Amino acid sequence: MANTIYVLNGPNLNLLGSREPEIYGRATLADLERLCRATAERHGLAVEFRQSNHEGEIIDWIQEARAEEAAGLVINPAGYTHTSVAILDALAAMEAPVIEVHISNVHARESFRRRSYVSQIARAVVCGFGIDGYALAITGLAAMIKTED
Ligand code: DQA
Repeated sequence: MANTIYVLNGPNLNLLGSREPEIYGRATLADLERLCRATAERHGLAVEFRQSNHEGEIIDWIQEARAEEAAGLVINPAGYTHTSVAILDALAAMEAPVIEVHISNVHARESFRRRSYVSQIARAVVCGFGIDGYALAITGLAAMIKTED
């Protein structure tokens, strides 16, 4: 799967569009998926786009991306960003580049959101651009993949 990237979304992101729209905007998860596919396509990449409210399922998908030798992975771990050593461990086992994305600027919110386990292994972190951050992340990831090819 040299040309495939995974875009993984954590808990409550299924509610995008209606969940705290003043923070996360009005775009839905389906809008986000369309944006990711269109951006990836411009760079000749295919996308496995997933969302789960369950930590273990997200870990299974990270392991799947590794086993399938995905070219890279973009992840918004949502609330698990700030709590999950298990997601960090799964990502640390990846060889392909991992990009962490947050829709909101996590540094401008509650102090517990400033700690991210995932940032330790992420090659880059994008936050505060709304859902456009995913397009930026995919564009940056595509450049990394190309350079490291
Ligand atoms: C989020 C920020 C997290 O702190 C929060 O728990 C989320 C979404 C974001 O995209 O801004 O669910 O990851």
